[in-house]
Amino acid sequence: MSETVSICRYRDVDLTPERVAEIDRIFFESSNTKTFPSDEARAAFRERWLGRYLVHDPAFAYLARDGGGRIVGYLVGAIDDPARTPRFGDIPYFAMLGAQTKRYPAHLHVNISPEFRNRGIGGRLISCFIADAKAADATGVHVVTSAGSANVSFYNRNGFEEIERTGPDGSLVFLARSF
Ligand SMILES: CC(C)(COP(=O)(O)OP(=O)(O)OC[C@H]1O[C@@H](n2cnc3c(N)ncnc32)[C@H](O)[C@@H]1OP(=O)(O)O)[C@@H](O)C(=O)NCCC(=O)NCCS
Repeated sequence: MSETVSICRYRDVDLTPERVAEIDRIFFESSNTKTFPSDEARAAFRERWLGRYLVHDPAFAYLARDGGGRIVGYLVGAIDDPARTPRFGDIPYFAMLGAQTKRYPAHLHVNISPEFRNRGIGGRLISCFIADAKAADATGVHVVTSAGSANVSFYNRNGFEEIERTGPDGSLVFLARSF
């Protein structure tokens, strides 16, 4: 696939309902959780991992678009320490990671449409976020993912190193990169 994909800031795009639907589609398609007990549970899941970032941290959100303007990937992030920021208080693992998040406060969530993976787009989105996080004086960035997930090697290649295992049976891994 040789089609050119460009990266832009979320805030620079006119967010039509169709574009919001494209972001949502990529979010749900990329998530491991596929079924929800109710519409409310589905909405809460979206709010936790996507919605709150678009509302509170639009300056740290980026879109990847193909030549026709279709959204094929996105990154959302924040530079506030999530263990000390009330809007992340519903995510249980941050309570156990306060020492680490103090050192690496910025964090992100990145997802790419399956047909556009392995083309460097995720890496480009991470570079954009890190440049802005550094400019905003963040000292480091982290992600928390499943210890056995295929995306661990992706983060390793982008400069993230394993710092700590956490969660039930060490099933989650805290990966971080200093600035
Ligand atoms: C993880 C994810 C965001 C990576 O995005 P991506 O755009 O595929 O990432 P990249 O293309 O930059 O890197 C992926 C791989 O392609 C390789 N690659 C990078 N540029 C490439 C190119 N131009 N051509 C071929 N391969 C390339 C990289 O070496 C990398 O290999 P690795 O997985 O062994 O590290 C994407 O696979 C995804 O959305 N996965 C499902 C959801 C997910 O896991 N999200 C993260 C939640 S924590």
